[in-house]
Amino acid sequence: MKATSSNILVTGGAGFIGSNFVLQWLRDAGASVVNLDLLTYAGNAGNLAALEGDSRYRLVRGDICDADLVAGLLRDHRPRAIVHFAAESHVDRSIADPGAFIRTNVQGTFTLLEQAKLFWTALDDADRHAFRFLHVSTDEVYGSLGPGDPAFSESTAYAPNSPYAASKAASDHLVRAYHHTYGLPVITTNCSNNYGPFQFPEKLIPLMILNALEGKPLPVYGNGSNVRDWLHVEDHCAAIRVALARGRVGETYNIGGNSERKNLDVVAAICDLVDELRPDAQLGPRRKLITFVGDRPGHDLRYAINASKIAQELGWKPALQFEDGLRKTVAWYLEHGSWIESVRTGAYRDWIKQNYEERIPR
Ligand code: NAD
Ligand code: DAU
Repeated sequence: MKATSSNILVTGGAGFIGSNFVLQWLRDAGASVVNLDLLTYAGNAGNLAALEGDSRYRLVRGDICDADLVAGLLRDHRPRAIVHFAAESHVDRSIADPGAFIRTNVQGTFTLLEQAKLFWTALDDADRHAFRFLHVSTDEVYGSLGPGDPAFSESTAYAPNSPYAASKAASDHLVRAYHHTYGLPVITTNCSNNYGPFQFPEKLIPLMILNALEGKPLPVYGNGSNVRDWLHVEDHCAAIRVALARGRVGETYNIGGNSERKNLDVVAAICDLVDELRPDAQLGPRRKLITFVGDRPGHDLRYAINASKIAQELGWKPALQFEDGLRKTVAWYLEHGSWIESVRTGAYRDWIKQNYEERIPR
């Protein structure tokens, strides 16, 4: 059997975190990347426009549920690792249309695992030993915390509450089982809420930046007291690279920003930054755009990550403070009007209408 190459296979590399990962990887590490991405509404080949002409990068448009395609890519490119980002990722969409989440997140991860197992089994001893399947997952698999509860650790019991979280939990369990049963060298990372460049404007931070900029209502679910632990995407990507390079096979690593914030505080901070960077005397302070709307069904109250395992074992910790990262992120969205227009397609507008116009104002 031929040896592996220095290539890595990334899935979902045209999405938010995946594209930041590919850019960071090729900037810092060098080895070639094959990016398997279906280019759904959330995937945008333009996120990687900076790599045009770079012979180390190749985009393959395709579905992780397509076993023959995955087998062919493994056969042709012989990657030393798979870094698996591809997923349906938006909780509100999973409430409206869960089927797509089961297909991609569960069936898709199963297909990748099965093909990875076949590829890995046929490698020689040294390459089999070095191969890695890194599964990128979420803190939402652990469910919801009360205000005084300790943060999620790697031994917290799974208690997913949304169809999205349940589909990611199922994929985590499959990854675990492929290690336990077949010995596939897997690593799973469970991360908190990311923010930064190229995040699709259906998620809280980019949605609020764009609405604030345009003087539109800022739809805060419930009373805005839900808490998320925010991590800049560059820090998440750095953590994944550390886990890939030095993580122990079969282990899971929690990744978080140690930056718990209430949604209402995040939205208010965005208002103040947009006021500062794009003052609009006619509009006045953007905080007055904050509008409380009907809550997300089953809305998790609080997420918090205990990231001491990855800190102690692998020496990773976040580099960016939330306030600095948020300022950089607001500035990025204000400077990238053409990227925003390119992702706000008709389908995007339909989603915004479906999700917000039908919410009953409180
Ligand atoms: P995203 O929605 O921005 O991107 C998902 C990417 O996957 C897109 O490029 C899309 O085209 C691709 N994709 C979807 N279905 C596919 C399929 N069947 N085959 C191939 N490609 C497909 O998601 P994201 O926010 O970048 O999240 C990436 C991963 O990180 C996900 O697994 C998510 O669960 C996890 N995660 C996200 C966060 C967060 O805050 N965004 C936090 C923790 C973990
Ligand atoms: O915790 C990690 C998870 O973070 C990832 O696994 C998911 O892929 C990612 O989407 C994110 O999930 P959340 O549901 O926490 O993110 P979202 O940006 O959708 O919402 C953040 C919080 O803001 C949440 O409490 C709901 C609230 N919200 C969201 C939107 C879109 C609002 O109040 N108004 C909104 O319009």
